[in-house]
Amino acid sequence: MCGIVGYVGLQSAGPILLEGLQRLEYRGYDSSGIAVVDRDGAIAVMKREGKLRTLQAAISEMPSGGTGIGHTRWATHGQPSDRNAHPHASSSGDVIVVQNGIVENYRELRAELQQQLDAEGRSWQSETDTEVIPELISRELAAGRSIESALGYAIGRLRGANAIAVVHRSQPDRIYAARTGSAGGIVIGYGDGEMFLASDLPALLPHTTTVYHLEDGDLAVVDSESLTIRRADREPYEPTPVQIDLDPVAIARGPYRHFMLKEIHEQPRALSDTIRGRARLDPPSALADDFDLPESTLRGIERVLVIGMGTSLHAAMIGRWWIEQIAGIPADFDNASEFRFRAPLLGPSTLVVAVTQSGETIDTLGAMNQVRERWGAPQVVITNVDGSEATRQADAAIIMRCGPEVGVASTKTFVASLASLYLLACRIGHAQGRLTDDDLTVQLEQLLTAPSLVERGIARAERCSEVAQRFSESSNFLVLGRGIEYALAMEAALKCKEISYVHAEGYAAGEMKHGPIALLDQGFPVIALAPRGPLFDKMTSAIQQVSARRAPVIAIGDEGDEELSDLVDHFIGVPPAPAPLTPFSLTPVIQLLAYQIALTRGLDIDQPRNLAKTVTVE
Ligand code: F6R
Repeated sequence: MCGIVGYVGLQSAGPILLEGLQRLEYRGYDSSGIAVVDRDGAIAVMKREGKLRTLQAAISEMPSGGTGIGHTRWATHGQPSDRNAHPHASSSGDVIVVQNGIVENYRELRAELQQQLDAEGRSWQSETDTEVIPELISRELAAGRSIESALGYAIGRLRGANAIAVVHRSQPDRIYAARTGSAGGIVIGYGDGEMFLASDLPALLPHTTTVYHLEDGDLAVVDSESLTIRRADREPYEPTPVQIDLDPVAIARGPYRHFMLKEIHEQPRALSDTIRGRARLDPPSALADDFDLPESTLRGIERVLVIGMGTSLHAAMIGRWWIEQIAGIPADFDNASEFRFRAPLLGPSTLVVAVTQSGETIDTLGAMNQVRERWGAPQVVITNVDGSEATRQADAAIIMRCGPEVGVASTKTFVASLASLYLLACRIGHAQGRLTDDDLTVQLEQLLTAPSLVERGIARAERCSEVAQRFSESSNFLVLGRGIEYALAMEAALKCKEISYVHAEGYAAGEMKHGPIALLDQGFPVIALAPRGPLFDKMTSAIQQVSARRAPVIAIGDEGDEELSDLVDHFIGVPPAPAPLTPFSLTPVIQLLAYQIALTRGLDIDQPRNLAKTVTVE
């Protein structure tokens, strides 16, 4: 949520910052801005409401400078406008700040600083929470502190999780940065006589693969040659950077019209990579190589709780189902943001599994934090970002191997988190003796077919496009599923809402007659997820109830299922899958339907309105 970048070196900072922001635009895109400082300490700030291209158009008017910071915003306090866009300056104009996060006590800090501003006849320049940060720093500088000390003081006054970068007129060859709590990361990139800073790796990859991730509590001083970390608890030191193994091509859109489409097509590869080496058949083993939860912990688990938000919550719903069916132990799922605030009851023999693509979602991190502090229960995280905050909080991690997901809508990380949950269910079941070697072999053999199921689902793109065009004007959809497909109905509805801006509700098919059926008429299409399986007959009963109300039915079922296709108005066939694996065959079709509706409606698929990829604010 919000992207920040920084550069210090011999090149002109402006174009480098702009390019970095383009690569982070998925994090927020309602306004953007950059500030550059030249060698003499002259500061120029440019900010614009709207997509980054509006800033790009204006930037040629900006003076050059070798040090700078930039920001792409997802508004929290104050609506999108030039005035509320970052960077924000102190009233003295000396201190410039970009921020990702929320200053929860900004009202209190504003009130405190207001008296001084009033006395000087100055006023706030924005409605943001951010502006108190440069003001606090500036006041402490005026009182005689060094920049590091003033920044440390200001950070100490802020409540909430924040990542900030700062430049100051008197230090034109430095950027200062700080991270408190889980406000999304800050990564420092090492170049040759130049240094980079960004919220996330995609902005750094064109320049360097040598990086250092700031930790909670780090205060960083970055010049063109080095990074120094200052912390309250130790002497300043130069940290050791790490090499990351990420191909810049992974973040290019290539021949695809949108990142979302590219990432839908990457799913078979993302799945194979995530499963590789973790589903062994001879002898059978699941997650044997790189999973750190001790065998004794696995054997002692009496209950599993899977948590997440959005698409990751839908993966959690499916994970619950697999853990019960495959591992044979009680399991539940919960929305992380609700779980946190309802004082749930857990014991140390409950395993908590957090699903989070980014590893930085604040609701999920908050829930993990509570689990650790209140119950000390063991925790596993399933995430696509190794080194993310969630991996630091968890006792063990299953890292999906999807490569960066740039499209705001989660696609490939959904199927990869499903595969990870399936593997975890197998591992727990085997550790507890509920799955024999033979049972485990059967389960893993099934899982190994998942990439091909997804691939064959993707091959239905043309049919999805035909159906989507037919319904692109519909303003409502009901999506029905039963059993494991209920979670997919929820996911299908979420995809329709977030990228097609269509109001869609995902319902358990059995629930429809208890209320939602009242909505149905000729103008209210229903998508029915109806692959063959134990609940197929119940699904067809629901479909008949829908048809009796003249609502058009789009069924997604097994290829060649004539009984089903005869029953409905529109039919999309997917490869038949064994009952627990239907999420892999159905997912590409529900993604492609939403994608095609959005495409027909001419919407901004990779940057849907009001959304941001990583939700680091509450
Ligand atoms: C939907 C989507 C969001 C995320 C949610 C959780 O396509 O992307 O609903 O799934 O914000 O994000 P992570 O998985 O990063 O915790």
